[in-house]
Amino acid sequence: MFHVENYSGSREARYATVIKQLEALLEGEPNQIANLSNAAALLNQFLDRVNWVGFYLMDGKELVLGPFQGLPACVRIPLGRGVCGTAAEQGKTQLVANVHEFPGHIACDAASLSEIVVPLVKDGEVIGVLDIDSPELARFDEVDRVQLEKFCETLLRFL
Ligand code: SME
Repeated sequence: MFHVENYSGSREARYATVIKQLEALLEGEPNQIANLSNAAALLNQFLDRVNWVGFYLMDGKELVLGPFQGLPACVRIPLGRGVCGTAAEQGKTQLVANVHEFPGHIACDAASLSEIVVPLVKDGEVIGVLDIDSPELARFDEVDRVQLEKFCETLLRFL
């Protein structure tokens, strides 16, 4: 049974704990859908002030919806479109303080105001993105960027 952790310490220490939990959850399991599903669920219970946590995966020249927690979302996102498509095209994390100011932002949940999207890069190739939305403006900062990139590096060892 999953043990709900009482996260404590600095933000970095709390992220380190959730990354350890991720490793323990995924160890020995090769199924990608299972691992992405547990990663989304783990982050959703760890992060506060978020309304959508999940993955989009490369499918040919576009992204397709993967395992997530939150409201049903748009299924396909062309490369270069919106925050997710930009992160996938550039292979670079997108930290967006106000999604309404991001050109081409795709509104899936009207409550979303800020967003972070981390590309999943395996063997030099973008295989998908981690997308997290918040109903608060500027919810995510550099600490989140660095730590969520670490989270994704760990996750990638199991994909
Ligand atoms: N806002 C995203 C689309 C995905 S939803 O937020 C789940 C974007 O512009 O890429």
